Amino acid sequence: EKGGYDYFMLKEIAEQPKAVADTLLGRIGTDGRLTLDELRMPASVLREVDKVVIVACGTAFHAGLIAKYVIEHWTRVPCEVEVASEFRYRDPIMNDRTLVIAISQSGETMDTLMAVRHAREQGAKVLAICNTNGSTIPRESDAVLYTHAGPEVAVASTKAFLTQLVACYLVALYLGQARGGRRDNEILTVIAQIGDAPKQVEQVLGTMEPVRALARSLADTHAVLFLGRHVGFPVALEGALKLKELAYMHAEGFAAGELKHGPIALIDDGLPVVVVVPSPRGRSILHDKIVSNIQEIRARGARTIVIAEEGDEAVVPYADHLVRIPATPTLLQPLVSTVPLQVFACELATAKGHEVDQPRNLAKSVTVE
Ligand code: M6R
Repeated sequence: EKGGYDYFMLKEIAEQPKAVADTLLGRIGTDGRLTLDELRMPASVLREVDKVVIVACGTAFHAGLIAKYVIEHWTRVPCEVEVASEFRYRDPIMNDRTLVIAISQSGETMDTLMAVRHAREQGAKVLAICNTNGSTIPRESDAVLYTHAGPEVAVASTKAFLTQLVACYLVALYLGQARGGRRDNEILTVIAQIGDAPKQVEQVLGTMEPVRALARSLADTHAVLFLGRHVGFPVALEGALKLKELAYMHAEGFAAGELKHGPIALIDDGLPVVVVVPSPRGRSILHDKIVSNIQEIRARGARTIVIAEEGDEAVVPYADHLVRIPATPTLLQPLVSTVPLQVFACELATAKGHEVDQPRNLAKSVTVE
């Protein structure tokens, strides 16, 4: 049932182009607009929403962090993201104009479920983004948008994450579309561009051999740092989480701009630092800033592993290892930039001799609070 792969995780990483395509399937109309009638949330309800709150755990929380950037950008509705286990204990402010989005692969995560219950008690509308048909979280929510990743067996989430991102993009674009406004044209352009994602993920998967070789060469390392900016910051957090859970290594993700406020003190001779570089096109200020960050850490001895778009030549002089990803609009970049980090963690853990599908101390679905 592993389809010829040694581990479910490898199989699930390879299935990502299809998982992404399946999650998009039937949701984009022939007129280029989104058709999410399945949500059964009328445009009038979506127009009234004045705050979005996302609750999730672990990898799903990272998808939520990325969703905040796109929701606020495309809809101009304020969005908060919180780990579900913290949410209800701080007496969060909600009412019937609050849209709570609960993201969960399994639909059974107790922390997320308790957050959903709390939100509904306060009168908020809850939309679940879930991969498991008929599981508890969608059953207890007002609406659900299913991800179509298929069953995810490996404890470390990979294809579910990419499809959660797709679902978050769809919800953000749909909310923007329903509300109308000055981002209308941009929304239509992005709906057209997101259709390229499966092909681009496939392209990344086809170029991973050097990443595997690099991961194997780092099997004796004790720590790896991950840096990103903007939507690349949650990608850095996700890369670090994968490495923690699979390779049992000290791995941290930071917003690159925070380096100088403390973490730069960690940089030591030979410390591997993975940097997720935003597109040099569009918001190039982000790009320029991260290039200086790479220079800063390299000057202090870091071994830089740079994930950058094809054609981005500015990073070349400062990259000890360069991983190319296809050019994408900045906001969609996580769909491709996450993939090398999954492969990196899986290979490094395998090189250490770990059981990648079933890491120690972890369960696929955490059904206790
Ligand atoms: O089933 P869920 O999406 O609610 O699970 C949430 C987390 O437990 C899960 O993403 C966990 O962090 C993964 N092991 C990460 O790879």
